[in-house]
Order: sequence, then C-alpha cells, then structure tokens
Amino acid sequence: IADIKGGPDEGLNRVGQTVVVMGWVRTLRVQSSVTFLEVNDGSSLSNMQCVMNSDAEGYDQVESGLIATGASIWVQGTLVASQGSKQKVELKVEKVVVVGKSDPSYPIQKKRVSREFLRTKAHLRPRTNTFGAIARVRNALAYATHKFFQENGFVWISSPIITASDCEGAGEQFCVTTLIPSSREAADSPVDAIPNTKNGLIDWSQDFFGKPAFLTVSGQLNAETYATALSDVYTFGPTFRAENSNTSRHLAEFWMIEPELAFADLDDDMACATAYLQYVVRHVLDNCKEDMEFFNTWIEKGVIDRLNDVAEKDFVQLTYTDAIGLLLKAKKKFEFPVKWGCDLQSEHERYITEEAFKGCPEIKAFYMRQNDDGKTVAAMDMLVPRVGELIGGSQREERLDYLENRLDELKLSKESYWWYLDLRRYGSVPHAGFGLGFERLVQFATGIENIRDAIPFPRAPGSAEF
Ligand code: 4AD
Ligand code: MG
Repeated sequence: IADIKGGPDEGLNRVGQTVVVMGWVRTLRVQSSVTFLEVNDGSSLSNMQCVMNSDAEGYDQVESGLIATGASIWVQGTLVASQGSKQKVELKVEKVVVVGKSDPSYPIQKKRVSREFLRTKAHLRPRTNTFGAIARVRNALAYATHKFFQENGFVWISSPIITASDCEGAGEQFCVTTLIPSSREAADSPVDAIPNTKNGLIDWSQDFFGKPAFLTVSGQLNAETYATALSDVYTFGPTFRAENSNTSRHLAEFWMIEPELAFADLDDDMACATAYLQYVVRHVLDNCKEDMEFFNTWIEKGVIDRLNDVAEKDFVQLTYTDAIGLLLKAKKKFEFPVKWGCDLQSEHERYITEEAFKGCPEIKAFYMRQNDDGKTVAAMDMLVPRVGELIGGSQREERLDYLENRLDELKLSKESYWWYLDLRRYGSVPHAGFGLGFERLVQFATGIENIRDAIPFPRAPGSAEF
C-alpha cells in the first residue's frame, strides 16, 4: 500500500492499473449499493480504501459476515481516482478472498482504546496506527544506527547475553541457573530441574555453568576487548536489569547501543555521541515523514520541531559541578535535595533539560578513568528533554595500576576480572565509549510517554507475558 500510495501524487499515476492488496481489515461500512473496506498492510499509516459492489467476486463473504474488522484478506481490483477527500486513489474491487476470518471478539475495534489497555494486548497492538508507526520508526532508528557506525568504520560486535561479570557493579543482574543436563534428566519434573539447591542455597558446582552466571547489564567490557584489537567497534543488542523499573523510563529488558573508540578520550566520545544522535534523528525526519506527522498530531505536538533542533543545534556541555550549581540556584523545590556528590535524579535531569536550557558522580563504575584531581572520573551523560538520561559514557581506565587499585577499593575481585586486566597488560590504549538506551531513543524520537510502548514486548516487574 505504501508502494502504491507513497509517491508524490499519492498513486494517481497508477490509476487504471490492476493491483493486489493483502492486509487486515481496519473498518467495514456496508451501504445499500456499495461496501467500503479500509485495508492496512502495515507498510504505512495509509489504508487502501476498497470499494465493492455486489457483483464483485467473493461479495457473499460480506453478506455472510466473513469480512469483518480484524480479518486478513486478499483483494484484487483496479485503481481509480477517489471521490473522497481522504485519499487520491481507491481500489475498485474485482475479487476478494478472506484469508483468515476474525472472531467478533476482536478487541481492537475502531473506537479509540487506551495505551494501558493495549499493553494487555501486546500481540495485537501492532495493528493500531500508533504501534505500527512506533515499530516503523524503531526500525528506521536501528537501520540508521548501523548505517552511521558502518559508514564511520566501526565494526559491529555481538556481545554475549550470558556473562559472569557485572559491568555496572550495581548488583542488578538476573541470575541464570539451571541444572547441568545429566542431572536434569534425573529430575522428576521440569520444575525440579531449575535450581539445584542445598540447604536453600544454589549448589553452583551442579549448575550448568559451574558458577554463578547472569544476563548481561551491558556489553561494554566485551566491546573493550574488541576495541583493543579492531579499533572502533560497537554492540547493539539486548541487555537486562533487575532494577526497580516501575517508571516510564525503565525496562527490565532493553536494547543498548555501545560504541567503543580506541585511541580516544572523553572529548572524542562526546563528539561521537553528538554526531550519532544528530545522524539518526535526521534520518527519521527524512525517512519517516508520514509517521512523524502522525506523532506530531496525536502524541506530542511539536515533536518535529524538537527533533529539528537536536539535528541542527549545538549541544550544551555542562560539568557536573556546574549542573549542581544550576540546581542549587533553581527556584524549584526538588523532592531529592541537591548537593555536590549526589546522583542526579530524574527531576533534576528534567529541570536541566526542560527548564534551565530550553534547548554526576554516582558511585562511579570501576572502569571509568580517574581524573587528575583524584576525586572525579572522566564520565559524561547526555540528557535530553522528555527522556532525561539518554546516554551514559566515559573514558575507560587504561592504566593497570589505577584499575587494580580501583577494583580493590570497590572490593571487586581481581581474579574474576583477569581478562579485563589483561587488556591493560598487553598493548593498552586510551579508549572511551558510551551506551545509549534504544527504547529511550524511540521515546525521544516519537514523543511516546511510556517506555513500555517503545518496545514490542515490554518486560517489567511482574510482567513477562507474550
Ligand atoms: O548509564 P548506563 O548504566 O551505562 C552503561 O551501561 C555503560 N556500560 C555504557 C557504556 O559506556 N558502554 O546505561 C546506558 C544507557 C542509559 O543512559 C539509558 O539510556 C539506558 O542505557 N538504560 C536503560 N534504558 C531502559 N531501561 C533501563 N532499565 C535502563 N538502564 C539504563
Ligand atoms: Mg547512567
């Protein structure tokens, strides 16, 4: 349908041609002499209006109720200029075949349904305008991500999903445990095969990996190993965090893009993050015009202007100390009090991105490079309106002695990071990288309020259906 109606004259140049459309019935209007069907195939927001007289082959399926909202159909007909104001062309139906009928209980009828309701129907929500448009923009962002990095000489690396290390050291990992296959066969039921416990504790020696293993929170450490061999690399894959994710910006499973630049410092890292974001935003503005107009009308008025600003304007660079200064001077009362050394909360990020500029040392991870002041590290976050923290990145500690001291300080075991330390032992280089939460980017680009609507199948506490 996008192919037919997507051109500058919205299909008029194809009037007279015979075409076949395959898609799902959005609406059906039966009048005495004609029946109108709106068919959507997901290629764009545009439906094909199909006009059917009683002499069309297969018309009996209208009378028998087989052609109904939600049904999948195959329609053949001639493109004609439309009398209606909503479209330039429509399809005069010669033949229609119901491919899969739809039960009258189909939950997505024409009336508008809330996004909360649609989250309980995640298997059917891609058939709505909003979720179809989000899926296409998400796809465009993924394509533009690969395009940007490939055009700039980065190599894509698959980082593992199962790992023994906790990159962020925040203890937010999901544990992966299952019996080794031989013991599993001996178990009476699949449930008995899940963890092998001894006095209430998991017996790791009997477990699949022979030691605790987790779902990864970040592919960074693995990316670093490839960056210190292939130079610039990036990962793009799912990551997992068992954090309190009952907010509109947190998921338990989210996708992350993590470039890692060799022979690079924090300034190179920030320049890369800026260029990347501007590139993907421009790509979406240029290639998803119809979907962006839809978001601009129905989801966030002004989203297109906001994205144009990002694509064109310089980004404000603010040190942590200056950000704290700005918050201390703010007239606003924050729920979390501000002082130097505190972690910036969402409300602070929102103030900075949405009020201070219309336009942080947490307990910093062990891998961040110590600055000469001995107190701070070479780290950055990119904050954007509506989302807050979109990117977190840093220059990595490339000096073996500093890194070992830091592991000791945080009581992390040097033995388990032996391979990471090796990278500093053999041909270490200054290097830096960042992680961008892909669903936050989708939120940022579409204006959709809740991150659970930015991924096809959201995972959050208490919800792992579909
Ligand atoms: O700031 P974070 O924790 O940084 C890292 O993981 C580094 N290892 C990245 C790197 O330098 N290679 O996470 C990076 C980004 C955040 O800025 C945010 O956009 C996103 O990942 N993120 C989440 N997105 C959705 N749900 C969550 N629970 C997220 N936690 C982080
Ligand atoms: Mg962060």
